[in-house]
Amino acid sequence: MNLNPNKSIFRKILISSIVTVLLGLCAVGLVISFFAKSYIVDSRSDEMIRQAKRVNLAVQDYPIPNEGFKDLLLFFDQAYDKRIWIFDAEGNIIVTSSKDEVNAGKSVSDKVVNQVIHGDPAIWNQTEGIEEAMLSVAVPWGKDNQVYGGIVLHSPLKGMDETTAQLRETIVWVTLFGVFFSFAVSSYLSWSITRPIKQIDKAAAKIAIGDYSDRIHIKSKDEVGELATTINHMMDQLERVDQDKNKLNQMRHDFLANVSHELRTPLTAMLGFLEALQDGLIEEGARDKYYEIMYNETLHMNRLVDDITDLMKLENKEIHLVFMTVDVQAILSKLAFKFRQEADGRGTVISCVIDEDSPPQAYADPDRLEQILNNLIKNAVKFTENGTIELKAMAVPTEECVLITVTDTGIGISPEDQGLIWERFFKAERGRPFKHKGSSGLGLAIVRELVELHNGSVRVQSEIGQGSTFEVRIPLVKST
Ligand SMILES: Nc1ncnc2c1ncn2[C@@H]1O[C@H](COP(=O)(O)OP(=O)(O)OP(=O)(O)O)[C@@H](O)[C@H]1O
Ligand SMILES: [Mg+2]
Repeated sequence: MNLNPNKSIFRKILISSIVTVLLGLCAVGLVISFFAKSYIVDSRSDEMIRQAKRVNLAVQDYPIPNEGFKDLLLFFDQAYDKRIWIFDAEGNIIVTSSKDEVNAGKSVSDKVVNQVIHGDPAIWNQTEGIEEAMLSVAVPWGKDNQVYGGIVLHSPLKGMDETTAQLRETIVWVTLFGVFFSFAVSSYLSWSITRPIKQIDKAAAKIAIGDYSDRIHIKSKDEVGELATTINHMMDQLERVDQDKNKLNQMRHDFLANVSHELRTPLTAMLGFLEALQDGLIEEGARDKYYEIMYNETLHMNRLVDDITDLMKLENKEIHLVFMTVDVQAILSKLAFKFRQEADGRGTVISCVIDEDSPPQAYADPDRLEQILNNLIKNAVKFTENGTIELKAMAVPTEECVLITVTDTGIGISPEDQGLIWERFFKAERGRPFKHKGSSGLGLAIVRELVELHNGSVRVQSEIGQGSTFEVRIPLVKST
């Protein structure tokens, strides 16, 4: 993917800002050049009217011009750099400031005379008798309500064209500066936008190849920052899903490896025996023993498959318990009877502590509770030699449960293994002199799942060489 956001975004921002600057300045330039002349004429004529009024203030006390009057006009001509005429009520120019002698005796237009006689100032652009374009204003000459005539002030217009030319030049410079400024601002903006986008692009490219470890480090709180946060969140999720998937795959792999390992041992033994029998290598008298071993291996395999099926169903929540009131002591007695012979064979005594007055009643599925206790007692028998096994059940009203304990004086479990024995296929081998035949490490995993399904709990207390006590807590039937 050849994404180069830098160039296209930079180009877009640059073009749009330059176009904005140029359009803005063109509009301003047009407006200014359009209105500047009239603005300058207006403000200049306003100023000239004020000056003319000041001239009037100086000469209003001389209704008939004399020499002093002429001196005054000369003074104002020089002070304001404006040519001055005085005309009478008929519009005849009677006095001019000295530089404009030629116009004496001429007259101003009737329109101007009319306006001035009525007390209003007049403004016009062309003055008769003067070649150069001039701006002229006229104000009444007189005092209070008495008007003797008018005072005219002239000023050449040429200065104004220069001013507008200057204005245009300024606009050109401002435009150049605007273009340069747009370039700088566009560069900064495109850099600040494209830098995080590049980071996001890099992270997205990694996601595409299944690498979710990268994180985008953008602190801004704008839309790009929000996008980065969302992508980071997405990567968290993907990473978690990926880890879960790997874990699940690993678990599936371990499970299959364990199952095939557990099945291979008895199968290999049986295959060997069957081949020996087939080849007639075994004497008539010894055959029964071989058949018995093969029968036991078949039983073991059968149990293994049953256990695996149970465990799968438990983990997939496919087992539904049928809850009822269960006499726990009856189950314990039944199991004690079932295992007595096997225990005897190992020199172990199984005893059952019976409370006949108030036998504890558990709220449980009887078949599954029997399966839990069967697995625990089977372990106790298997891992105890020449010892004792004590089975006990009692109601614990404060905890609203029946506490069932299976205590043996067997080989015990090391503290490190006590947390692991509940994992499927785990067999404690630390400090064990030999491997127990027929152990597949599924019994306690099933116990844990079943107890949890009963909303109960199970734990172990054990010391190596001293024995173990398994405590199961199952909800008590509430007395009504
Ligand atoms: N009462 C006990 N005394 C000593 N060790 C025990 C006892 N109960 C369980 N263990 C240890 O915990 C391990 C796991 O027990 P679990 O019942 O799950 O498997 P198993 O008895 O080996 O095989 P299975 O129950 O599937 O036939 C055993 O292999 C054993 O090492
Ligand atoms: Mg077991």
